[in-house]
Amino acid sequence: MNMRFGPARGLTGRLTPPADKSISHRAGLLGAMSAEPVHVTNYLEAADTRSTLEAVRALGALVEDNDGEIVIRGTGLREAREPDGPIDVGNAGTLLRLLPGWLAAQLGRSFTLDGDESIRRRPVDRVALPLRAMGARLEAREGRFAPLTVHGQRLMAADHDLDVASAQVKSCVLMAALTADGTTTVAEPSRSRDHTERMLLRAGVDIAREGNVVTAVNVDELGLESVAVPADPSSAAFFVAAGVLVRGSQLLLADVGVNWTRTGFLRIVRRMRGIVLGDLEQESEELAAEEPTSDLDVAHGALEGTVVTPEEVPPAIDELPLVALLGCFAEGETVVTGAQELRVKESDRIAGVVNGLRGLGAEIEATEDGFVVSGTGTLRGGTIDSLGDHRLAMMGAVAGLASQEGVEVIGMDAAAISYPGFIDDLRALGAF
Ligand code: S3P
Repeated sequence: MNMRFGPARGLTGRLTPPADKSISHRAGLLGAMSAEPVHVTNYLEAADTRSTLEAVRALGALVEDNDGEIVIRGTGLREAREPDGPIDVGNAGTLLRLLPGWLAAQLGRSFTLDGDESIRRRPVDRVALPLRAMGARLEAREGRFAPLTVHGQRLMAADHDLDVASAQVKSCVLMAALTADGTTTVAEPSRSRDHTERMLLRAGVDIAREGNVVTAVNVDELGLESVAVPADPSSAAFFVAAGVLVRGSQLLLADVGVNWTRTGFLRIVRRMRGIVLGDLEQESEELAAEEPTSDLDVAHGALEGTVVTPEEVPPAIDELPLVALLGCFAEGETVVTGAQELRVKESDRIAGVVNGLRGLGAEIEATEDGFVVSGTGTLRGGTIDSLGDHRLAMMGAVAGLASQEGVEVIGMDAAAISYPGFIDDLRALGAF
């Protein structure tokens, strides 16, 4: 589906963005790994997180949907059922990377994970390698792509030193740590999102963080009980960008998750002099258990270019396309470095953003690990291809609202991967 977004006169009003995708995936998986029922409120209704519920059902968990609350009756940590055929992860990279951490310990059972065309291009060796160091047996196509087959083994704890800060890899290892004999540690070069750690802490796991090293000890069972999923800061980010860029905008985004490891984009926007007010979590030494939320007030205003450093990348990873878009409207140069991970997302997001925005009139160059934008204060408009990537589709829509001539987005339906109500929400705020 293609869709055109014309210049908007200003977005105003209040919106609660959809539920957090990362936290929903984790609630689905840890719910299935629990022996006692887990109640999840505000689980995300979108293609990616539906794939997680389908996957855990195939593994023997029961999922009841009670109007706004789901109840997951899991199999327990060590009793996942071997499904009849491959598990379809759809487009969900997080599911593809986290699930093997659980399945690797299911003694005597084998599981194959597969998904759509885009998932088959996303590397899984990054989880296979650390899992093998714990005794896991896995086979991937060409050694690094789905379909991925996992043969359950007895796991041993290990010390991992990750070369990229990836919450997916860290979380996979932590899932395996729950059943591995001993104490597992995971060190990452800088802090990636820590939803798994927080949820495990609430589930009674002996887990802690010191600097960038997480330590977890195996358990007999999880005691999670319930999860309340906040609104997704990555979905809210499209409205933050639209609010800042479109003249006359004044928005209130309600109940947004403000976990420090997810609010890198908001810190970057503020540094660019964008107006975003809210009670953001501060960086802390200790691992927190809860997921804090805040309302965010956003208003239109002039922007200045900025330099995003490699340490700032993980807490803003999914919002970096929007940093490029803001950079087009800012005064001066906006530079993103240390973001080579963008090349292995739902699409090559460096190429997708640079080619896409250039086609709309932006002055933007790709680098190996990011991009450089020369702000011109405006964007002409034109046509942009989502490449089937939900975040590029929604970035294109916001670009259209802020542009001079409007933007046609090719493949707008990709938004449903994380945000099926995106168009309706834009309309409700007066974007068209
Ligand atoms: C996610 C982690 C990030 C992010 C993805 C979701 C998660 O990936 O890009 O959209 O839920 O753990 P990496 O941690 O691999 O960068």
